[in-house]
Amino acid sequence: MDFATELLSSRRVRTQCAVMGVYEQSPLSGASATLDEALKGRLSRIIKQGDFTGRLGDTLLLPDLEGPIERVLLVGMGTRTTRSGRSYRRAVQAAAQALLKCSATDALMTLACDDYADIDVYYRARYTAEILLQSHYRIPNLKSARPPKAPALTHLRVLAATPADRAPMQRGLQHGAGIAAGAGLSKDLANLPANVCTPTYLGQIAKGLAKTHRRIRTRVLAQPELKRLKMGSFLSVTRGSAEPARLIVVEYRGGKPGAAPIALVGKGVTFDTGGISLKDPGAMDEMKFDMTGAASVLGTLKALAVVNAPINAVAIIAACENMPGSRATKPGDIVTSMAGLTIEVLNTDAEGRLILCDALTYSRRFKPAVVIDVATLTGACVIALGAHRSGLMSNDDALADDLLAAGQRASDPCWRMPLGEEYQEQLKSNFADLANIGGREAGAVTAACFLWKFVDGLKWAHLDIAGSAWVGGANKGSTGRPVALLVDYLLSRA
Ligand code: BES
Ligand code: MN
Ligand code: ZN
Repeated sequence: MDFATELLSSRRVRTQCAVMGVYEQSPLSGASATLDEALKGRLSRIIKQGDFTGRLGDTLLLPDLEGPIERVLLVGMGTRTTRSGRSYRRAVQAAAQALLKCSATDALMTLACDDYADIDVYYRARYTAEILLQSHYRIPNLKSARPPKAPALTHLRVLAATPADRAPMQRGLQHGAGIAAGAGLSKDLANLPANVCTPTYLGQIAKGLAKTHRRIRTRVLAQPELKRLKMGSFLSVTRGSAEPARLIVVEYRGGKPGAAPIALVGKGVTFDTGGISLKDPGAMDEMKFDMTGAASVLGTLKALAVVNAPINAVAIIAACENMPGSRATKPGDIVTSMAGLTIEVLNTDAEGRLILCDALTYSRRFKPAVVIDVATLTGACVIALGAHRSGLMSNDDALADDLLAAGQRASDPCWRMPLGEEYQEQLKSNFADLANIGGREAGAVTAACFLWKFVDGLKWAHLDIAGSAWVGGANKGSTGRPVALLVDYLLSRA
C-alpha cells in the first residue's frame, strides 16, 4: 500500500472512499464538517435522523454516492471528552476492518486531523499506517483451499489539518509502514510450524534480509563454530535434536561508521518440548512460538532497514530445538558456558536462559552501547502480567525508563520487574557455579537474574514476552510484539 498526505479543500476532494470521524453528541467539525459541505449536508442529516450515533468503533459505509466522493465510511470516535490515543487506535482499527470489506482501491483518511492531548500528529499518522497494514496481514497460507482475495485498498491518503503537519505525518506514515513490515516478518516466522521454521530456515531468512537491504550483513554460525566458541550452555540444549543449531548474526549499519551498536539478542527455540523435563501435552503446539524473540529482533532490523534509520544495530539469535532423545541433556548434567561459569541443568525445560547466556556473552564482541534480549522465557511472566505487558528487567534505570516510555508511545507496553541479590540466592547449586532454575517463586525474576550473571559491565535489559508474543484460542497466532516497542526505542536513539 502506498501512503501520502493531503491538505483539505472541500471543492477538490476526489476519492473512492472518504473515512470520516463522528463524535457522540457533537456536531460535525473540522474535516468532517468540510466534507459534509461537499456532500451537501447529507452526513448531518444521517446523524440527525439517528442512523449513526458516533459510538466508538461503530462504522457505517455509505456506498454509491454521486460525485467525486464515491463512498463515505463513517467511523464512531466516541465522546469528545474521552478521546485518547487508545480511542484513536480503536477507531482506526474499526475503519481498517470496514475498509477490508469494501472494494475501494483508494481512500482518504481524515481521522488524523483532530487534535488529541496524548498523541501527536506523528503518532496519529504512524498508527494509521501500522494499523491499516497490520489489518492486511495474513497467516502464511498452508491451507489447500484457494486463498481469499487480497484487499482492494492500495492507496491511502491521510488528510493533514495544516501544512506544518505534513512533514511529521509523512514521517509517521513511513515509520508505521516500516514497523508493519517488520512485525509482519516476525509474525510470519512465528506462525510457521516448527517443521518449516527450523534454525536453518531462520538462518536463510536472515541471509535473505541481507540480499534485500544493502545496509544489512548476515553471518550464520554452524555447530562446529559454536563448539570452537565454547558455547557449551547453548549446545547443551540442542543435543537431543536432529536439527542443527545456528547462531545468527545480523548487522544493520545505518549510523556513523564505528558508532557503538545496540545489540538485540533473541531466543530462537524453534520448538520447545521441554527436553527430558518434558512438557504436558496440552497446548504444546504453541511452543512453536518459542522463537518469537528471534523473530522480533529480525523484524526490528527489517523495520530499521525499511525506514533507513540512522543507527547501528546488531541482532544475535541463538536458534535450536529443545527435544528429548538419547543424547539429550539430563537433569543434573553440568555444562560450561562460553563465559566460563558452570551451570547445573536441574530442569531441561528452562532452556531459554541456557542459550541466551552464551548469546549475551557473544554480544560483547560488538562493544554494544546497550544490549536488549528478547525471549518467551517464562510461564511465570504470563501469570504475573498476562498478555497486556511484556516483562522488563534491567541493570540500568535510564535504559529501563527509555524502554518503558517507548512501549507506552508505541502502544506495545512493558512493565518493570526487579532484579536483586536476594533472588540470586535461589540459583545456588551444590555442584556448579549456578543452577538453571530458582524454584517456584518469582520465576520470571529468577530467570532474569540468571541472565544478569552474564552481563557484568554491559547496559542490559531483558524483555520477557512469554505473555505478549502470541494469542491462543480461536484467533491463535503471533502478535508481532515487541517490534513496535523496539523500533520506537531505536528511532528515539537515532
Ligand atoms: N518457553 C518456555 C516459557 C513459556 C511457557 C512461554 C509458557 C510461554 C508460555 C520456557 O522455555 C519454559 O519452559 N520455562 C519454564 C521454566 C521453568 C522450568 C523454571 C516455565 O516457565 O515453566
Ligand atoms: Mn522451556
Ligand atoms: Zn522455551
